[in-house]
Amino acid sequence: MTTPTVFRAPGRVNLIGDHTDYTGGLVLPLAIDRYTTLEVTPQVSAIDLASDADTSPVHLALPVTDPESVSPPWGRYVAGVAAELGTSCQGFRGTVSTTLPIGSGLSSSAALEVAVALACGAPREPFALAQLCQRAEQRATGVPCGIMDQLTSVAGVAGHALRIDCHSLEISPVAIPDSARIIVKFIAHRRLASSAYGQRVTECATAERLIGPLRSASLRDVDSIADDVIRRRARHVVSENQRVRDACEALASGDLATVGRLMVDSHVSLRDDYEVSTGEMDEAVKAALSVPGVFGARLTGGGFGGCIVVLADADSPLTVDEVTSWEVHAVNGALSEPHV
Ligand code: GLA
Repeated sequence: MTTPTVFRAPGRVNLIGDHTDYTGGLVLPLAIDRYTTLEVTPQVSAIDLASDADTSPVHLALPVTDPESVSPPWGRYVAGVAAELGTSCQGFRGTVSTTLPIGSGLSSSAALEVAVALACGAPREPFALAQLCQRAEQRATGVPCGIMDQLTSVAGVAGHALRIDCHSLEISPVAIPDSARIIVKFIAHRRLASSAYGQRVTECATAERLIGPLRSASLRDVDSIADDVIRRRARHVVSENQRVRDACEALASGDLATVGRLMVDSHVSLRDDYEVSTGEMDEAVKAALSVPGVFGARLTGGGFGGCIVVLADADSPLTVDEVTSWEVHAVNGALSEPHV
């Protein structure tokens, strides 16, 4: 019997900088020590994958041309990757398992796409790999997502958050001080496909038609937008980019109190100007902020449910239960994994 090859990709949590990537803005995520893992052996002309999280396996004949209609639905991410690779996609059979909570805003789908892409023999150049997986996600879900999740899963750096300029794709790792605890708390399942995510992307495009690229716009430019909703969406993006710049500086100098304050400002902006929070997420952020040693908390990822992220001091009594809350650590991305 052939020994299976293991391909593993991490999820991510975003410290700050949400709903900025699809306008070429700034983000500060980290790849986390929770993974999706494929154990596969090569086969010709088909992908057969069984999941420990879903009773229905995926069977795909290669090449794949219509990923949108694949059943079961989790197979659409696999099919999206295979479709992007076209006739160069290599077949395999095996299993997939994950330690990431699925559909919770920690990029379980990006981790699946990246692990599958490596198993399919995708070229191992980080940006091309992340972009291929981003297109796969867009095809699988119809959501016009940005590059943050896939690029973080591919290119994470242990012990560091990644400042990513989503326009130039420049990645600058920022060390996370040893004294910082990063805790993720699950709030509610969500599907971005049935959310207003796509509408937010369209609203940003409307703002850009009025004042040019949001990544280089100022708050003065934003003030000139007459429409209240479009102005608030643009204000979130422009102010969030500045918060990422400030948070990177503060993190690099070990000033966790400032990072925490910026995280809270980010949550307020996502709640009020961008309207992607929920009452439950607001309550969870408030509750976290009342715990001693907590510097900041905010919704993380696309919103409309998912998780909040909390930044706390090493001495904080904040606890996790490993079922709905986890302490996470920054790890290397999938390309640094020894695939054996
Ligand atoms: C989702 C998308 C990302 C990003 C975040 C919000 O996770 O997949 O591209 O837009 O939402 O920051």
